[in-house]
Amino acid sequence: MVVVTGGTGYIGSHTVVELINNGYEVVILDNLSNSHLDVLDSIEEITSKRPTFFQVDVDDRNQLNTVFAELGTSVEAIIHFAAKKAVGESVQEPLMYYRNNVGSLVNILEQTQKHGISKFVFSSSCTVYGQPDVCPVTESTQRKEAESPYGNTKTICEDIIRDCCKVQELTAISLRYFNPIGAHSSGKIGELPVGTPNNLVPYVTQTAAGIRESLTIHGNDYPTLDGTCVRDYIHVVDLAKAHLQALKRLEGSLPKSKYEVYNIGTGDGKSVLQVVDAFIAATGINVPYKIGQRRGGDITEIFADTTLANQALNWKAELSLEDALSSSWNWEKNYRSRKG
Ligand code: NAD
Ligand code: UD1
Repeated sequence: MVVVTGGTGYIGSHTVVELINNGYEVVILDNLSNSHLDVLDSIEEITSKRPTFFQVDVDDRNQLNTVFAELGTSVEAIIHFAAKKAVGESVQEPLMYYRNNVGSLVNILEQTQKHGISKFVFSSSCTVYGQPDVCPVTESTQRKEAESPYGNTKTICEDIIRDCCKVQELTAISLRYFNPIGAHSSGKIGELPVGTPNNLVPYVTQTAAGIRESLTIHGNDYPTLDGTCVRDYIHVVDLAKAHLQALKRLEGSLPKSKYEVYNIGTGDGKSVLQVVDAFIAATGINVPYKIGQRRGGDITEIFADTTLANQALNWKAELSLEDALSSSWNWEKNYRSRKG
């Protein structure tokens, strides 16, 4: 049995689908602070299996004690997604972020210790690299001081896991995600930003749907190929599959370190304008845009060297940027039509 915290969220739900499709029994723990219960229906429609669900706050030790006492020794592994992720909000409310993201991790690691759970996968982020001096970044590229409390929670959590692996019967993998985009090909699960989207692709799809008047591109005077920032956009289904491979590595008998870190991206940097052009090419829908000011805290360019994940996890991103963008559009349309 695999416990997935944050399993009704965007990346969690896609990973649960991959786990179920590969024969795992899944138990989701989520407090639904940024997701909805009907995601369970969608997972069931896609996989014909409904995961067990506990509505719990992972930040609450008592609730966790009760749930893990009930699950007993049947838990073999934990994939820990549950976290708050709004960068701007974390700047305004740092303590809420440290409490939720770091507190939850400490609580969940306590359960691994208490119940002898030895396999752990953690959602980290390329945000730990800050603005790197050289791209692509490898896992040994130096981490820089985080730009935000959110980013800092990822750096701190990585360090806590590393320290616990030194003394506990624990083997763990942190996956440093680059920019996850896209949705499941069924159009039944995807990203559901609350309010006005901060991230590029949800803003693009909502503009294409006519919900937003036009996209503002945050600056075109960066030292990049066309002046707009460059990121490594990874399809969420490829990202979900990386979790499966991480789990297999933890289960397998190949020699490994007690704590390992992997970049999960495509290895290919794309500019904001390239993403907009690719969206228009993939969907045939126009996206009106204007050039605005730079956004505070943005870095110029980052993309991954994924050699380590390719080799040790036997994982490689397979889906294209166009696949990801058309799946995002498909999800946006399906979601709006279901909502009426
Ligand atoms: P999401 O908000 O869609 O999913 C997170 C889930 O965790 C939500 O369902 C939320 O209800 C739940 N949650 C939050 N705090 C909780 C708590 N205290 N107890 C129980 N449940 C709680 O976010 P996502 O995009 O799926 O991100 C998943 C993980 O990946 C997060 O750790 C995030 O920081 C990390 N990550 C995301 C991105 C990205 O661009 N989406 C990039 C890098 C890393
Ligand atoms: C942001 C976070 C990062 C987090 C990630 C996933 C910041 C500084 N970074 O990454 O920590 O892990 O989200 O949640 O917030 N853009 C526009 N117009 C828009 C929206 C975005 O031009 O309306 C541009 C941005 O300036 C950036 C690129 O698109 O150059 C990607 O932005 P976004 O999707 O927000 O991701 P990141 O900033 O890379």
